[in-house]
Amino acid sequence: MIFFDKVSKIYSPSVTAIEDLTLKINPKEFCSVVGPSGAGKSTLLKLLISEERPSTGRIFIHDQDINQISRRRLPYLRRKIGMVFQDYKLLPTKTAFENVAFALEVAGVNDRIVEDDTRQVLEIVGLADKGSQFPDELSGGEKQRIALARALVSRPDVIVADEPTGNLDPLNGWDIIRLLIKINELGTTVILATHNQEIINSLGRRVITLEKGRLVSDEEKGQYVL
Ligand SMILES: Nc1ncnc2c1ncn2[C@@H]1O[C@H](COP(=O)(O)OP(=O)(O)OP(=O)(O)O)[C@@H](O)[C@H]1O
Ligand SMILES: [Mg+2]
Repeated sequence: MIFFDKVSKIYSPSVTAIEDLTLKINPKEFCSVVGPSGAGKSTLLKLLISEERPSTGRIFIHDQDINQISRRRLPYLRRKIGMVFQDYKLLPTKTAFENVAFALEVAGVNDRIVEDDTRQVLEIVGLADKGSQFPDELSGGEKQRIALARALVSRPDVIVADEPTGNLDPLNGWDIIRLLIKINELGTTVILATHNQEIINSLGRRVITLEKGRLVSDEEKGQYVL
């Protein structure tokens, strides 16, 4: 379970990005985070992957306070959470296959398993035949599917996606959403930050709405109502 306990994030005296947020996300949930630009969606996700630290309050994953975790164990936590970004963040000098495999190599996984698991996730995202292409030889939708494969390959408990469809046309965007749904059905928690009203309204899942850093609604089968 993920638990935000009265979390605030104050970047500077004039910028409170998250204010007194208390929130629980259960294992295997698919939940979306919506709200206007600057509402604190990305900050919420960054707090979760401990890219940012809360100014006050605590964040627990599986009963562990993530800001009490030693530096040495932080990479282990990060592997439990896969992250996908709007701009893919693929390494341009590595092929699609190598981009995915790299996530396992840095974790010291042995070559044979790296090879097998990378192939397997490329299958899942439907790009088994594109492994030897470099990012600039892939379409936007394909790049995002590779980024998703990279997030998945460490078998995370949670996938966090920040505007993953933001740079894609609607068809490619829906491919990514369908993959996130499939990944969720296979047992992974999915947390999706998005501006896309159509996607939110057709998902029919939990929607958390932020405004100026505050939680203003949290609904089981929510709609995008801004
Ligand atoms: N590193 C930072 N330093 C200072 N202020 C920041 C930083 N990152 C974000 N902010 C500020 O915190 C607030 C929330 O930003 P955040 O990126 O979380 O919003 P968002 O909901 O993701 O917006 P968008 O929909 O535009 O992506 C904004 O006022 C933003 O300017
Ligand atoms: Mg954002």
